[in-house]
Amino acid sequence: MTIKETLLWARTELKESCERPQYEAELLLAYHLKKDRMYLITHDADVVENLDLFKETVARRKANEPYEYIVGSASFYDIHLAVEEGVLIPRPETEILIDLTAKIIQEKQIRQIAEIGVGTGAISIVLARKFPELKIVATDICEAPLRVARKNINTFGLNHQITLRQSNLIDEVDEPIELLVSNPPYIAEDFILKSNVVDYEPKEALFGGRVGDELLKQIIVDAKERKIPYLACEMGYDQKEPLTSFVKEIGVESIQFYKDLAGFDRGFIIKFPGT
Ligand SMILES: C[S@@+](CC[C@H](N)C(=O)[O-])C[C@H]1O[C@@H](n2cnc3c(N)ncnc32)[C@H](O)[C@@H]1O
Repeated sequence: MTIKETLLWARTELKESCERPQYEAELLLAYHLKKDRMYLITHDADVVENLDLFKETVARRKANEPYEYIVGSASFYDIHLAVEEGVLIPRPETEILIDLTAKIIQEKQIRQIAEIGVGTGAISIVLARKFPELKIVATDICEAPLRVARKNINTFGLNHQITLRQSNLIDEVDEPIELLVSNPPYIAEDFILKSNVVDYEPKEALFGGRVGDELLKQIIVDAKERKIPYLACEMGYDQKEPLTSFVKEIGVESIQFYKDLAGFDRGFIIKFPGT
C-alpha cells in the first residue's frame, strides 16, 4: 500500500478509539517510517515498507494503548522524556505545579529540595534545568519509575543535581529540605477511569487510597514534622474542601490552592509556621 492508502486505512481503524484519528494515524505512520508528518504529504505515493509491523502498531493504539507507550516518549514542558509501561505519562497540568514551585525557589533562593514520586523524572528534571545550582533528592516507591527516571536524568546530564532514592514518601531522605514537591497518586480507589489510563498506566501512580487523599495528607504531616518550610502538591479536582479542613486541624501558616487550565482545583502550596 502507498502512504496515502495506508493513512486512509489507519484512520478508519482508529475512528472508534481516537478523538483525532487522522492526526494519530499520521503520527503513528511518521513514527513507523522514522520521518516527520510533512514527509507523508510530500511522499504520499511511496510504498510503505514493513506494513505488517505498522498494522500491529495501529492495533495497539486501537486497543487504547497510549501513544506515548507505543513510541516510548512523552512531550513535557520544553523536553521529551523516555516513558514505558509501569511509569506514569507526565500530564500537561503538572507544568503548572512546576511553574509555581519555580517561583518559590527563585524568590526564596532555595538550594535543596525533595520530590516524592519521581515517575519519569518530569518535575525534578525541569526544575534542575531551570536552576543549575539546585540539588534535588527524588524518591519513588516503585522500581520501574526509578529506572526510567535514571535514564532521563542521564540523557539531560543531571546526575550531579538529582539523587534518586527508593523510599516510601520521604522516609529515606535525611538531608535538610527547604521545599518538598509532589504529584502523588490522588485518585479514589473506586473512581472510574478511561481504558487508556486504567488498563495501561500503573495503579501505584494513580490511586491514593480508598478516599484518594490519604497519601496527600500523609505528605502534609511528614512535611510538617520534618519542619520543611514549603510544600507544593498536585491534587484531585474535588479535594480542596477535605484538605482545607485537614490543614486547619494540623495547623499551617498558609495554604493557597491553584486551578488547572480547565478551571478545576488542581493543587496547593503550603507554608508551615515557624519555618
Ligand atoms: C502521579 S505519579 C507522578 C509521576 C511524576 N512525578 C509526574 O508528575 O509525572 C506518582 C508517583 O508516585 C509514586 N508513589 C506512589 N506511592 C508512593 C509512596 N508511598 N512513596 C513514594 N512514591 C510513591 C508512584 O510510583 C508514581 O511514580
